[in-house]
Amino acid sequence: MDETIYRGLNGVNVDTSQICFIDGDKGELIYRGYDIRELTEASYEEVVHLLWNGDLPTRAELEALRAEAQEDVVLPDGVVDLLRCMPAGAGPMHALRTAVSALAAFDPNPDGVDHENVRRIGTALLARMPVLVGTLQRLREGKEPVVPNPDLSIAGNFLYTLTGEEPSEAATKVMDVALVLHAEHGSNASTFVARSTASTLTDVYSAITAGIASLKGPLHGGANTGVMNALEEIGSVENVERYVLDTLAKPNGRIMGFGHRVYKVRDPRANILEHVAERLARESGESKWFEMSLEMERVMDREMAKKGREVKPNVDFFSASVYRMLGFPADMYTPIFAVARISGWMAHLFEQYADNRLVRPRLVYEGPRGKTFAPVDQRA
Ligand code: CMC
Repeated sequence: MDETIYRGLNGVNVDTSQICFIDGDKGELIYRGYDIRELTEASYEEVVHLLWNGDLPTRAELEALRAEAQEDVVLPDGVVDLLRCMPAGAGPMHALRTAVSALAAFDPNPDGVDHENVRRIGTALLARMPVLVGTLQRLREGKEPVVPNPDLSIAGNFLYTLTGEEPSEAATKVMDVALVLHAEHGSNASTFVARSTASTLTDVYSAITAGIASLKGPLHGGANTGVMNALEEIGSVENVERYVLDTLAKPNGRIMGFGHRVYKVRDPRANILEHVAERLARESGESKWFEMSLEMERVMDREMAKKGREVKPNVDFFSASVYRMLGFPADMYTPIFAVARISGWMAHLFEQYADNRLVRPRLVYEGPRGKTFAPVDQRA
C-alpha cells in the first residue's frame, strides 16, 4: 500500500479541468484561455458566460444570460424572514451560509443533478447571492431590504441592494472588476470542497453551502476581513512595522493577505487591485489604507528576505482597502468574495456532475493496533 503523504494535498492532481490555469511561478491566471488582465475589461456577466460555456458571449448570448438571471433574482419571502430572525450580532458568513442552504427548501427540484437542473439552480444562485448579501447588510443596519432593479447589472444590483441608492458608473465598474478577479481560481479549498461534496451526487445547494463554509476560513476568503481588521488595529503607517514584527514573532504568526499555496510571485490579482486601490485613494483623498498596505508589503519583503523566503500579497490584500473605500464594513468582505465565487463554484459543479467520480482519499493510520476489548466496569 502506498503510504506517501501529501499534507494539505499539496501538489496532488485529482482530475482534469477545462476551466482555469494558474502558473504560480510566472504569476499568471487564465480563465478558459484568457489572461485575467484582459478580462478586467469585461463585465462579470461576460466572465460568467465564459466560465460556464467555454467562451465569451455574443451580444445575444449575453442578453439571454442577463434575462435568465433576472427571472430568479427576487428572494423567497421565507428566506428574507429567516434573515430577519438572525440575531443582530450574527456573523454575515454564518447568515449567508444558512440562507443559501435554506434556499433548497424553497426550490421545487433541489436534488436533480442533471445538467439542466444544475444550470437552473446555478443561474438562480448567481442572481440571488448578491441580493442575499445586500439584504443581509440592510437588515443589519436596521433598514428594509431593497427590491433589485432588473435594469441593473449583477455588480450594479449588488451595490443597489446594499445601499438602496442607484450606484455610479465608476463604483459599478470597480465592483465588476472585483467580481471578475474573484470569480474563479482552480482547485482552491472551497472549490475542492464543493466538488468533493457534489461527488457524492448530493445537490447543488449542499455543495455550495459547503463551499461557503470553506471560504469563510481566515486562511482562505476570510483573509480579506482579516486584512482590514489588522489595518484598523494598526491605525497608522508609523505603527505598521511594529505590528508586522510582533505578529511574525508569535508562534505561527501570519500576516493576513500574504502568501499563497500556488503563487511563488505576486498574485496577478493583487497587481490589478493595487492599481484600483491607488486610484480610489487618489480620487477619494482617503489614502491611509493604501499607504499602510504599501508599508506592510515593504516590511514583509524585508522580513521574509531575512528567512530566504518570498511571501507576497495575494488577492485579499488590496481588495480590503478597495472595499473599504467603496464603503463596506470589514465583515462583509468575505460575503462579497462568495458573491463572486459562485460563478467559479458552479462552473466546477457542471464539470463534476458531468463526469463524476466519488472523491475519497485515504489517511495513513498511525494509531494503536491489537488492543483487547474489556467491558466498561473492567476498565482501569
Ligand atoms: N505570514 C507570515 N508567514 C507566512 C505567511 C503569512 N501570511 N504565509 C506563509 N508564510 C510562511 C509560513 O510561516 C511558512 O514558514 P515556515 O515554513 O518557516 O513555517 C511558509 O511561509 C510556508 O507557509 P505554509 O503555510 O506552509 O504555506 P501554505 O501553502 O500551506 O499556505 C496560506 C498558504 C495562504 C495558507 C498562507 O500563505 C497563509 O496563511 N496566508 C495568510 C492567509 C491568507 O492571506 N489567505 C488568503 C490566501 S489567497 C486567497 C484565498 O484563497 O482566499
